[in-house]
This record gives sequence, structure tokens and C-alpha cells, in this order.
Amino acid sequence: MLKGKLITLGVTGSIAAYKAAELASLLSKAGADVHVIMTAGAQKFVAPATFAALTGNPVQTDLFAGTDGPGGAGGPLLPHIELAKADLLVVAPATANILAKAAHGLADDLLSAAILAAPGPVLFCPAMNVHMYRNPATQANLAALKKYGRHVLEPGKGRLACGETGEGRLPEPPEIVAEIARLLGPAKDLQGLFVLVTAGGTREPLDPVRFLSNRSSGKMGYALAAAAAARGADVTLVTAPTALPVPAGVKAVLVETAQQMLEAVREHFPRADVVIKAAAVADYRPARAAEQKIKKEGETLVIELVKNPDILAELGRHKKPGQVLVGFAAETENLLANARRKLEEKNVDLLVANDVTRPGAGFGADTNLVKLIYRDGRVVDLPLMKKTELAHRILDAAHALRG
Ligand code: PMT
Repeated sequence: MLKGKLITLGVTGSIAAYKAAELASLLSKAGADVHVIMTAGAQKFVAPATFAALTGNPVQTDLFAGTDGPGGAGGPLLPHIELAKADLLVVAPATANILAKAAHGLADDLLSAAILAAPGPVLFCPAMNVHMYRNPATQANLAALKKYGRHVLEPGKGRLACGETGEGRLPEPPEIVAEIARLLGPAKDLQGLFVLVTAGGTREPLDPVRFLSNRSSGKMGYALAAAAAARGADVTLVTAPTALPVPAGVKAVLVETAQQMLEAVREHFPRADVVIKAAAVADYRPARAAEQKIKKEGETLVIELVKNPDILAELGRHKKPGQVLVGFAAETENLLANARRKLEEKNVDLLVANDVTRPGAGFGADTNLVKLIYRDGRVVDLPLMKKTELAHRILDAAHALRG
């Protein structure tokens, strides 16, 4: 996700400056091109050569004079402007002093000038004594920075280097890397692919005012469509009625019944590279939908149901080489055995099995708890996670299956 990204890392004078070395190393290992600016204070804690060695780039320390590190003298003429053009500028650790300068637009050294000149995202990771952090002046500066569109990763709580306990710990470097990745947005690794997603619970009419349906909210399918679009795919979402807005960049085809869903899916299937069937399709529908509202007459009412077409099974029969078919299984018992049977019977490449009896899993929730089941017998047990995050894990798996 960070491969090829240009990141400027500003390091200021805090005891946590040593953690910035790990941050620089993690970012470089993730494929980012990292350029470090150190303030005079930061150099009291860590030597520039450490960052130069970890990033392979000269470290910049002076607004007016060249470079420090393996590159030797003769850096960019206007280093603050050059370094400000990064995909992201992160200040870690960020002292109360740099926050105050940035909040007030001061630019009296290389880092503060680069922050002021940065046209892109800037992330501050404060680290300081708890009382300095809680001081209303620091809090006002943080609020001002947020108001100006800068990002702040809140510090952790705990025992601080100064011996006191409270807020002010620099978040761990992997946490900072994750935040940077989030701010830079997902890689466009699905660009050029057509992804077809189904979502929601179909409605099978009984009469003009009643229908048979299920508890699907559509959240899982919509999260998949949104994630695929964010990763650059061309996405069509065939959706049964839900209360959710259509995600940005997604084309929605609105349907009600399983039969309508089948027709819409059939239309788009031939050009699909990846199909993900998260919809909860009714297995049966009323044999006849009454033309008028059914009257409350007898003590019992018998409704004859007939089988709906199995959309996923039809896709499995017509799948072409190169197309990846992802099915779901919503089970209340024998999760693995039932899911494996569906994988075989419907000829899918990947089956996402949710035990919908588990808390936080399945219908309606914002989270889900699933196992990914592959044709070669592999089973990946995923922990409980947000549907928005799971969507990316499913897309990662489907993308990997395309080779
Ligand atoms: O919408 P949410 O509230 O976010 O809930 C998410 C979910 C629980 C609906 C989702 O995670 C899920 O499990 N979707 C599949 C639900 C389902 O219908 O499971 P199933 O085991 O009955 O069907 C297996 C697969 O066959 C599914 O991919 C389903 O889309 C497909 N199917 C089923 C019947 C049918 N007639 N046609 C189908 O295509």
C-alpha cells in the first residue's frame, strides 16, 4: 500500500525520537521513499546518520544549507518546498513546540516551513509530558490544526519517560504506519477489473402489501462494493431493498425478488472478473402472489411455496476460466460441513462462511465473524472484525485467486 509513496518524516526533540527510527525503518521496508527532516532538538536525541542509514536518503536539518548524511552537501535549493511535496508529511514525535508553531503558521526552521508549505496530508503524532499535553494552549493548538485539515494521531496513555503517568506516549510505530496507510487510501490494485456484487435480502411478494424476506441489512455487500470501488474496480452492485446509500463510484441495479436478481446478475456476469454473492436470496417464493390484499378470513392460512432459482449455482455452472466466484454461506449449525458442501455444489472458488448464531456475526451487525474456505481445502479462520475491514480481506483473497 505504501510502495512508491514519497513520505517526509519530521522528527522533533522528544525522548520518543528513538521510536522515529523504527518508524522510518518500517516505512522504508513497506516500499516508501522516506525523507527525514530533523529539528535541532531531535538531533540531541538521535544522530541524523541513523535515519540516513535506515532510509538511504540524506537527512535534512537546515532551512538554508545543503544536507547531512550519506548524500553529503548540496541538497535542494529550497528544501522546505521540495520536502513539502511528499504524498504525506508525518511529524513523529511531535513536541508541544512544533504543534504550537504549526498551529500559528510559524516557519522559522526547516520542519515548520515544510509543514506550512505542505499541500497534501500532514499527520502529527504528539508525544510529551502529560501536563504539557493537557495544557489548554496545547489542546487549543491541536484543535486549530484539526480545523485546518491537519491530522492528529492521539497519543497513548501510560507511564511516560519523564516518570509521570497519563496521555503523551507516542503511539507505537506500526500504529503510525497503519494510520499513514489509511490516510493515503487503499492501493488501486483492482483497477481494470469488473467486480459484480450482490447484497440485501430479496423480497418475495405474497400480495400487493406483503412479502417474505429475511434479516439481511445489505451492510456486508455494500461494504464489499465500496471497498472494491475504492481499490479502483469498476463495480456493479445488484441489490435487494436496503436502507443504505449507494457507495461512491458504484453502479447500483435495484431489484426486489430472487428472479429479478437472477436476471440482473445474468446480464452483467459475462464481463465480470470477480463475482461476490453476499445477498441473502430467498430459497422459496409464494407460488402465487395474490392480486389483491389477502383477507383475514380463516384461523390458518396455508401458503404454497415454490423453489427459487439458485443464482450462485447457475453462475458456478457457467463460470469461465479467469472468473473468480465468491459465495457466502449463512449457517446456524455444522458451519464447516455445510459450507464445504455449498462450495462443491455451487462450484465457487472461495466461500465465506458465517455462523450467524455467533454474537456480532451475520445479519444486521456492523461486524462479522467468518471462515474463508478454499477449493484446495484451506480454511482461514478470521477474527471478529468490521464488515468494512472484512470486505478488504475478501477482496485480497479473490484478487490473489486471480493470480
Ligand atoms: O446483509 P447483512 O445484514 O450485512 O448480513 C450479511 C449476510 C449474513 C447476509 C452475509 O454475510 C451472508 O451470509 N450472505 C449469504 C446469505 C445466504 O443466503 O446464505 P445461503 O447459505 O442461504 O446461500 C449460499 C450462497 O448462495 C450465497 O452466496 C447466496 O447469495 C447464494 N444463493 C442462495 C440462494 C439462492 N436461491 N441463490 C443464491 O445465489
